[in-house]
Amino acid sequence: MHGEVIQPIPGNHNMTSYEEACANFRWEDVEKEFSWYTTGKVNIAYEAVDRNVLEKGLGDKVCLYYSDPKRSEEVTYRQMMERSNQFANVLKKYGIGKGERVFIFMPRSPELYASFLGIIKSGGIAGPLFEAFMEGAVKDRLADAEAIAIITTPALRNRIPKEELPHLKHIFIVDPQGELGEGEIDWRAEMAEASTSFDTVWVDREDPMLLLYTSGSTGKPKGVLHVHNGMIQHYQTGKWVLDFQADDIYWCTADPGWVTGISYGVWAPYLHGVSSVIRGGRFSPRDWYKTLQDKKVTIWYSAPTAFRMLMSAGDDIIAEHDLSNLRHILSVGEPLNPEVVRWGERVFNVRIHDNWWMTETGGQVISNYPCMPIKPGSMGKPFPGIHAAIVDDKGNELPPLQMGNLAIRAGWPSMMRQIWNNPKRYEDYFRLEGWYVSGDSAYMDEEGYFWFQGRVDDVINTSGERVGPFEVESRLVEHPAIAEAGVIGKPDPVRGEVIKAFIALREGYTWTDELRDEIVQFVKTGLAAHAAPREIEVRDKLPKTRSGKIMRRVLKAWELGLPTGDLSTLED
Ligand code: WTA
Repeated sequence: MHGEVIQPIPGNHNMTSYEEACANFRWEDVEKEFSWYTTGKVNIAYEAVDRNVLEKGLGDKVCLYYSDPKRSEEVTYRQMMERSNQFANVLKKYGIGKGERVFIFMPRSPELYASFLGIIKSGGIAGPLFEAFMEGAVKDRLADAEAIAIITTPALRNRIPKEELPHLKHIFIVDPQGELGEGEIDWRAEMAEASTSFDTVWVDREDPMLLLYTSGSTGKPKGVLHVHNGMIQHYQTGKWVLDFQADDIYWCTADPGWVTGISYGVWAPYLHGVSSVIRGGRFSPRDWYKTLQDKKVTIWYSAPTAFRMLMSAGDDIIAEHDLSNLRHILSVGEPLNPEVVRWGERVFNVRIHDNWWMTETGGQVISNYPCMPIKPGSMGKPFPGIHAAIVDDKGNELPPLQMGNLAIRAGWPSMMRQIWNNPKRYEDYFRLEGWYVSGDSAYMDEEGYFWFQGRVDDVINTSGERVGPFEVESRLVEHPAIAEAGVIGKPDPVRGEVIKAFIALREGYTWTDELRDEIVQFVKTGLAAHAAPREIEVRDKLPKTRSGKIMRRVLKAWELGLPTGDLSTLED
C-alpha cells in the first residue's frame, strides 16, 4: 500500500521542494507579507479585501463569481470592500462593536460574505451557522455565545427564538417579507443608507474574529475561537498547498458554516487576491461539472463524499465537459480513498491532494503539496514550521509505522485560542504536555507520510460533518416513546459514516414505520437534517456502565459483528 506513488505534475509551483521548504522556513518571515508589518495596524479583513484595492491595484478584479439557480452575480474586490464597509457602518450605528458576537444564519450569497467581512472590520467576532440548523441547534449556539445580533433571511427567521435569548437584540433580515417585528431590521434598507467608507477597527493580532461551533463526543457543541493572527497560516498554506497564482480561478465548495468555507473559502484566496467561485443551491453532478467548465476553474477544493457522489454519477458526464483548466484538486474532511485519487487522475488528468486539519487547527496541518509525490490513501506530510507527530497516551513520540494519537506541537499561527466559556474543555486538548491532541489516530510511514486510521473518541463523521453522538442521543430521549438511546457511526461507502441509533422504547409503545418516521423528523426539527439517524434499531435494553453511561463501543461491536471486548464495567 505504501508503494503506490503518483509523481508531481511538472509546473512552476510556489514550493519547489518540500525538504528545502522545511529546512529554511520560519513563520516570522511570513509576517512581512502583511501591511501591519510596517503600519502596525492589524485586521484580517483589511488584509484580505481592502489591501487588494488600496495597495495592490486589484479593485476591479473579480473577488466572487456567485451563482445559484436563480441568480448570477460578480462582485469585485472594490465592491466587496465597499459593501463590507457599509455593513460595518450599520453595526456601528446599532452600537455593535469590538468583541461582540454577531452570527450569520443564511444560505450562501454575496450578502453573506459582505456581512461576514463587515463584522470583522468592525472588530466583532463572526459566528457563521449552517443554514440546515433547526431551532434547538441555533438556540444552543446563540445562547452559549451570548450573541447580540444575527443576520438571516425570512425563510430561516422562525428558527431563531429571540424571546428565549436575552442577549439577542438585533435580527438583520435580508429582504424581509411583511412587517418587521421587535428587534428586526431590514438589512438592505440599512445598507442603502450606510456610507461605503469605514475606518477599520484596528485590533491586536491575538484578538478574536471567528467563533465556530463543533461537536465532540460528550456534551453540547463547543465554540472554537480563532484570532486575527491566523492569517499568517491562511496566507502561507494558500501559497504552498493551494499553490495560488495571480490568475487562478478557485472554487471551494465548502459552506461558510464550516471552517473550510471560511479559512479556505474566504481568507486564503482573498489574501492572495485570486477570484473565487461560490455556488449556491443543491448538489448536482451536472451543475458542478458545468461550473468547473464555465468558470474555467483551475483549483478546486472539495470533500471525499462529494467526489464519491460524482464518481457514482458516472464518467460520461465528465466527458461532456471541458475541464482542461484544472491544475489540481484538494480534499479535506474525511479519509480520501485511494480509488478516488486514482479516479481523479484518470478522469480529470490531475491529482487530488488530500489534506488533514480540524476546526480547532484553523488551517491545514498535514498536506500533499504540488511539488511532492503523493501516496494515495495518505494525508501527506506536516506543513513546514509545524511539528505533527504520533504520540502515545503519555505524549511520547512513537516511531514510524506505530499507530497512536495524531498530535501537534502547540503554537502554530492559526491554532484556536479558546473554547468559548469553557477553559476546561480547552485545556483537555493540551493534556499531554505541549501537544495538541487531535482525537484522531494515525501512523507515519518511514518516509514521513501520515496515514489516517480513525477517531479515538465516538465523534461521527458523516459526509465530512462532525456530529456528536451525545447531542443526538439527548434529542432522541426527549421523544416520549424513547427510554434510552445510543448513537454510533456506521460505515457507509458514500458518506463515510451514517448515523445509527439504538433505542429502547418506553412501556406501552410499539415499533412501527410511523413511529420511526416521527422520531427521525423529531431529530431533524430539533437539530439538523444531517444529525438525524438514517437507521434505528430497537433493543429491549442498551449496554450501560454501572454508572449508567451507554457503551457506544459495544453498540459499534454489535453493528460490525465484532467481539464486544472487555465488558467488566457493564451494568449486568
Ligand atoms: C476528519 C475539517 C481523514 C478528522 C477541516 C478530523 C479527516 C475531523 C481529514 C475534523 C483527512 C479531516 N483524512 N480524516 N484528510 N480531514 N478529517 O473540524 O477526523 O469539521 O479530526 O474540520 O475530520 O473535522 P472538522
